[in-house]
Amino acid sequence: MTLVKMKDILAHAEENQYGVGAFSVANIEMVMGAIRAAEELRSPLILQIAEVRLKHSPLNIIGPAMVAAAKAATVPVAVHFDHGLTEEKIQEALEIGFSSIMYDGSHHPLEKNIAETKKMASIACEYGATVEAEIGQVGGSEDGSVDLEVLITSTEEAKRFAAETGIDALAIAIGNAHGMYKGEPNLRFDRLEEINGELDIPLVLHGGSGISGNDFRTCIRHGIRKINVATATFNTVVEMVNVQTPFKDYFSYHDSVIEAAGENVKRHMEMFQSVGRLKGDKAHV
Ligand code: 13P
Repeated sequence: MTLVKMKDILAHAEENQYGVGAFSVANIEMVMGAIRAAEELRSPLILQIAEVRLKHSPLNIIGPAMVAAAKAATVPVAVHFDHGLTEEKIQEALEIGFSSIMYDGSHHPLEKNIAETKKMASIACEYGATVEAEIGQVGGSEDGSVDLEVLITSTEEAKRFAAETGIDALAIAIGNAHGMYKGEPNLRFDRLEEINGELDIPLVLHGGSGISGNDFRTCIRHGIRKINVATATFNTVVEMVNVQTPFKDYFSYHDSVIEAAGENVKRHMEMFQSVGRLKGDKAHV
């Protein structure tokens, strides 16, 4: 088990038709909660942190903790750098031992996105790390600082992007958005199905918080293999901590954060059908 390449986790998910949760963490308690949940449910796990969140959780502190926790886990865990924006931070994550990076050039015109993604992919390749990139535009923004409109991924552009960059996984925009959805999410399954029919790499769904179990199942049926969840974990922690206030001491609070993060991870792993899906595990189905 231990720290593995995201590519290998996604290949197993593809072979067995399920989704793998990529859970964003902001502190060591969330790292512990996510790993405990994965161990309890015997599920593969992707632990991640996005570049915009490093102002709260510096990479040189949380990064080594994520890698150490993954190495000690009894289930396969990939450690992923989410929404990498700069070469400097992507390189730092790789040096720390992240087994996967996302370069997010979705804000660039196609040609520039292709050129920059190729550059970051060649750096990641030196470390044997998996590469995810994005085309189209997921709504909202990772940290809620801007409200980007959704630009649905074009199938033709996705085909060209995947072929020219040689990436391992592609994040697409099908109406999904970061943060909680304002109304019911309205996902373009027709486009997902079309893209999945043309590409043979795993597809990634960002903005997992607030999507229903039914919609997740449809996405998984049509090739989504990695599903990102951030806001739901942060909100579950805040809600659970608020209910229990006042705490009798610091460590009751600390334990509540671990438990809340773990509960949210478990809830999503059930929806993603990744429970008991370990290679060689007795429980494997
Ligand atoms: P949510 O915050 O909507 O779960 O999105 C997470 C995400 O896509 C991280 O990249």
